Amino acid sequence: MKAIIPRKIEEYCLRHTTARDKLLRELEKYTQRHCADAQMLIGPHEGALLAMLVRLTGARRVLEIGTFTGYSALCMAEALPEDGELITCEIKPERAEIAQSFFDRSPHGHKIKPRLGPAIETLADLPASASFDFVFLDADKENYVNYYEAVLPRLRPGGVIAVDNVLWSGRVLAPKKKTDRAVVKFNQHVRRDPRVECVMLTVRDGVSLIRKR
Ligand SMILES: C[S@@+](CC[C@H](N)C(=O)[O-])C[C@H]1O[C@@H](n2cnc3c(N)ncnc32)[C@H](O)[C@@H]1O
Repeated sequence: MKAIIPRKIEEYCLRHTTARDKLLRELEKYTQRHCADAQMLIGPHEGALLAMLVRLTGARRVLEIGTFTGYSALCMAEALPEDGELITCEIKPERAEIAQSFFDRSPHGHKIKPRLGPAIETLADLPASASFDFVFLDADKENYVNYYEAVLPRLRPGGVIAVDNVLWSGRVLAPKKKTDRAVVKFNQHVRRDPRVECVMLTVRDGVSLIRKR
């Protein structure tokens, strides 16, 4: 992932953002040491943003698509009330296993309900009554529109979907590859959707906040 924001600005933002707990720092280090795709982890700045959003929206039911090693799930779970619940979807068992080992060590881990398998199937298998206050989309970009359409009917009015990588290292300005085009298509899809309002932020790789009207 190519950084969009100058490193020094990122570092300044982080120094002026409330510090995260020890377990999150350990998980970040573990992921960097043991996982080839460690750059996928959202990191402390975006993690703090997600936690803040969960708190501000008063969310009790959260859905995440794209667990990886569990960093973003732990950030959001920490911001949930004691009886809050976060369902997180991951397709790769080895990643879900690492995530679970960290959830087990967190005082907020009991709020997290991991689901293994293709997220689109997990969503289809949810009970008809399942609804969410806050959703974080951070998995395969080719399916972003599908995830969005599957999730929006389950989002309460006023609920928020946060979507990661909407700037895709800046490639949205000159899309060449299939994934570049998928991100552009998703951004256009949201912009034209009268059911929602959206603000795109330049945090890390771009984060869209989409509020259901
Ligand atoms: C960018 S990473 C998520 C990072 C995570 N949110 C964090 O901050 O630590 C995307 C994850 O989505 C998973 N993924 C990709 N396609 C998927 C699918 N169809 N269903 C469920 N998970 C999928 C990948 O295996 C990967 O672990």
